[in-house]
Amino acid sequence: LGAGQLGRMLALAGYPLGLKFRFVDPTAGSPAGQVAPQTVADYSDTGALGELEACDVVTFEFENVPDYAADRLAATTQVFPPPAALRVSQDRLVEKTCLTSLGFATPRFEPVHDEASLRQAVDRLGVPSVLKTRRFGYDGKGQCVLKQASDLPRALALVGAGPCILEEFVAFEREVSLIAVRARDGSVASYPLIENRHEGGILRRSTVPSMTGPVVEREAAASVQRLLEHLDYVGVLTVEFFEVGGQLLANEFAPRVHNSGHLTIEAAGTSQFENHLRAIAGLPLGSTHCPGPAAMLNLIGTLPDKTAVLRVPGTHYHDYGKEVRPGRKVGHITITADTHAELETRVAEVSALL
Ligand SMILES: Nc1ncnc2c1ncn2[C@@H]1O[C@H](COP(=O)(O)OP(=O)(O)O)[C@@H](O)[C@H]1O
Ligand SMILES: [Mg+2]
Repeated sequence: LGAGQLGRMLALAGYPLGLKFRFVDPTAGSPAGQVAPQTVADYSDTGALGELEACDVVTFEFENVPDYAADRLAATTQVFPPPAALRVSQDRLVEKTCLTSLGFATPRFEPVHDEASLRQAVDRLGVPSVLKTRRFGYDGKGQCVLKQASDLPRALALVGAGPCILEEFVAFEREVSLIAVRARDGSVASYPLIENRHEGGILRRSTVPSMTGPVVEREAAASVQRLLEHLDYVGVLTVEFFEVGGQLLANEFAPRVHNSGHLTIEAAGTSQFENHLRAIAGLPLGSTHCPGPAAMLNLIGTLPDKTAVLRVPGTHYHDYGKEVRPGRKVGHITITADTHAELETRVAEVSALL
């Protein structure tokens, strides 16, 4: 379900394993639809869902698939990750409550549903704080930072759109993500922590390894394993963290392959895409080890000259086959190197071309 770039990279990772794919997505000519058969239909279209019942296993590449569609499919075929995990991740309040109940530290948060509860939440958490819609937010959309009283009208407009959550604003040192995968037999593997830089709520750069210390990293991997087991999860799951004062605060999790994991295609023993497929197909997991430093640069709203980029050693160019539009993720470049210094030199050379 979903035929964006994540679906496309899943299919491209699955063909060597002899897997076949069928995608459902309402947008014709989407990135995955260019490499596999696509049914152009809404996710609630019973005819399209009926076609998927013929598949051995159904998965999804974005978390706003209606949970009733996933439930319906789960009644007749295997759906991984489990629809219950999808449901938790679709609501920021349920998600953060789940994370805290499993022992994750998170930013402090309060539920908000009207002006009175917003004022109460601001009294408790102070400013700056971040108001987010509980559902359907992505790439920083459906969020507003509250710095002073004059931000209230904007915040109220957001609350008008539906139930919200107010979070303390975290002055983090860095953002990191932990991508883990759980197989059908319960075995778990996790990738090294990946460091992420966002601009305007959109991921710009991911780097591996992160600057986070090994003790914190091991704790994060153990917490994510608890989450996978709690959800009886099968497939790849990603937890996003803020690192502040030597501690990781969990921000959210994605029940799918993740933008920060694109660099695993070239930097890891087995990519997040292949490991997701191995997990849901009941195959053994592959190595998540990343032997050297690597970075991923998102291509947002523009595709640079391929020849110039590929002239820089260690570069890999990914074009998602999308129409180029401002603010849209249309591709990414992965850069590998033997040393950190070499990586930064190459990243600077590529950045100059963007
Ligand atoms: N509580 C917060 N404190 C500081 N920055 C935040 C906070 N919440 C979100 N952000 C910033 O906004 C980005 C997007 O927010 P996130 O909650 O991950 O929503 P999305 O679903 O859009 O990815 C984060 O990666 C981070 O850079
Ligand atoms: Mg996020």
